[in-house]
Amino acid sequence: SSNNLRTNNFLRHVESMRLHPSGAGHIPYLNAIILGESLATEEDDFVLPSEDFASQANVQSPEQYLKLYKRSIEDPDGFWSEIASQFYWKQRWGDKVCDENFDIRNGNIKIEWFKGGITNICYNCLDRNVEAGLGDKVAIYWEGNEPSLDATLTYSQLLDQVCQLANYLKDIGVKKGDAVIIYLPMLMELPIAMLACARIGAVHSVVFAGFSAEALTQRIIDCKPKVVITCNAVKRGPKAIHLKDIVDTAIHDSAQNGGISIDKCLVYENPSAMKKEDTKWKEGRDIWWQDVTPQYPTTCPVEWVDAEDPLFLLYTSGSTGKPKGVLHTTGGYMVYTATTFKYAFDYKPSDIYWCTADCGWITGHSYVTYGPMLNGASVVVFEGAPSYPDSGRCWDIVDKYKVTIFYTAPTLVRSLMRDGDAFVTRYSRKSLRVLGSVGEPINPSAWRWFYNVVGDSRCPISDTWWQTETGGFMITPLPGAWPQKPGSATFPFFGVQPVIVDEKGIEIEGECNGYLCIKKSWPGAFRTLYGDHERYETTYFKPFAGYYFSGDGCSRDKDGYHWLTGRVDDVINVSGHRIGTAEVESALVSHPQCAEAAVVGVEHEVKGQGIYAFVTVVDGVPYSEQLRKDLILTVRKLIGAFAAPDKIHWAPGLPKTRSGKIMRRILRKIASRQLDELGDTSTLADPSVVNQLIELADS
Ligand code: WT7
Repeated sequence: SSNNLRTNNFLRHVESMRLHPSGAGHIPYLNAIILGESLATEEDDFVLPSEDFASQANVQSPEQYLKLYKRSIEDPDGFWSEIASQFYWKQRWGDKVCDENFDIRNGNIKIEWFKGGITNICYNCLDRNVEAGLGDKVAIYWEGNEPSLDATLTYSQLLDQVCQLANYLKDIGVKKGDAVIIYLPMLMELPIAMLACARIGAVHSVVFAGFSAEALTQRIIDCKPKVVITCNAVKRGPKAIHLKDIVDTAIHDSAQNGGISIDKCLVYENPSAMKKEDTKWKEGRDIWWQDVTPQYPTTCPVEWVDAEDPLFLLYTSGSTGKPKGVLHTTGGYMVYTATTFKYAFDYKPSDIYWCTADCGWITGHSYVTYGPMLNGASVVVFEGAPSYPDSGRCWDIVDKYKVTIFYTAPTLVRSLMRDGDAFVTRYSRKSLRVLGSVGEPINPSAWRWFYNVVGDSRCPISDTWWQTETGGFMITPLPGAWPQKPGSATFPFFGVQPVIVDEKGIEIEGECNGYLCIKKSWPGAFRTLYGDHERYETTYFKPFAGYYFSGDGCSRDKDGYHWLTGRVDDVINVSGHRIGTAEVESALVSHPQCAEAAVVGVEHEVKGQGIYAFVTVVDGVPYSEQLRKDLILTVRKLIGAFAAPDKIHWAPGLPKTRSGKIMRRILRKIASRQLDELGDTSTLADPSVVNQLIELADS
């Protein structure tokens, strides 16, 4: 077929570069990723960008990609400093673009980019764009939970509002380096608050507004914020959630359990969700956002910061019960999010961009707020739920704003796919030109549905692999450059050197499967875990000395394409949300009738993974539906609704080794009912527990 021919031409190009002495061949890593002898055959499942798309793209062919990639690896200083020069720096960085120790055997891990450079990311997102003539361009199209509710902010209006809030924060004593907790839903005020913090050098820590009071308390105690910014309530679908009540509890508990006193709580009145009069109020501490910010000037001088000064903290789950405060700094993060956004989505100034992620997660930091705004993009910010009022809402929004780039998660794709094509096809979607996926591997059938039905077989899909820790995209298609394979995140972004290692930490070449690590730092890398550099080193740099360990498994096929296979640690990925099994377990055992709990992930049709909990009750407590409900409620209360177990499996005992270690391998097999694959159970302290568990499986 003609597609096959074009694919072969694409790949042959790469092949010829590899063989050319001055081509990519002398970068050992590229040898491994680039297709060897194989060329596309009939069985190969390649999807090509159309010629129209490729010819207008920022990167149009594998050859162009390889040239840029090769330069980024061989001359990172030159490559990144050219890009960085497009931003405003009050003072240029020192002689080193990057200074790192990436190898734990040589001492403490240290990563610095553009050290000595003085800049401000809010200035680069707003003032710089306004000065360049984008003042009247829409920065935010806000779409409320109700389809009739919307608003817009131009770049200069956004700058005004950010300055007013920044002035207020300064006035109440927030200074450079102070932490500010932001607990807001997807209102315009959420990016406004982030940018206002960045403007004055304060370190924002956004807590996803789906987290419970207990989870918020834990984060307040860890980062000791000067202020908490929230709103009175939000509507998600038909339901109102009283966020201010949650904040009240968290502030109270942080004082009680952590000795933290929060003197100021800034509350945005969200009139569509709750009336002012109905909001519980603590005089002296609580302040209405709308009462104070209009009184402040719409200009606010920028706090100039070092490239390595902290920009934000974002908590994420690990394999212990305690969330990790991932710390990102300013300069490298700025350069990296802007560049990845531009290339992975083939961004053009005329694009209207919509990312469905919430700013409470890293995706919303890097690809709702910073990456797009650094590019002067028009961004849709959506407050509501994609199924409200019905499953056509996304496409209604796409048509309403003429969205050109639509970035979402596989879980949403699968749930919309299940609801049927009619919800999609009744909308035009003609404006769409690039689709994106993030959060977990996208299964090929969901990929095809997204491609064929949503994108009318016209829009390339950027399946972006990255993490809270990486700040920005690491492995991602460049939509005009490569033939795609449904389900593969394809190739590394500029400057990124992924390697696949075996259990001993030895790099494996060619077609292989193993642990995904990164060699050498990239500008957007996190610099530490807040207050715990040792945990940073132990978790990420000790497992495979010399590399950053992602926690993910990955295979590479004969053509060099990367296929992510999921977490290899005790982290579950539910609807693209990362949840530590230990966190759920510790929530469960806090229930007085729960003696022990072991949590594993199981395949889930829509969520990707579901949470499956084995629970041992305290002696004498009967199993009951009520207890099951109470246990689930406990997890909702301690973490948040998104972490609620899908299944509670009563367990008279848990399979343990003689040294007391729970054998999760066996639990995973029982949870997924692969009972003929239990493997060797003879090393268990009490092998009979396995049969007991199987008997209770569906009770
Ligand atoms: C984990 C990171 C980074 C944004 C959202 C999640 C998984 C993420 C992909 C992808 C396969 C993916 C990985 C990773 N993941 N994107 N395109 N293909 N897996 O951020 O909460 O830090 O989770 O999400 O397992 O380690 P996060």
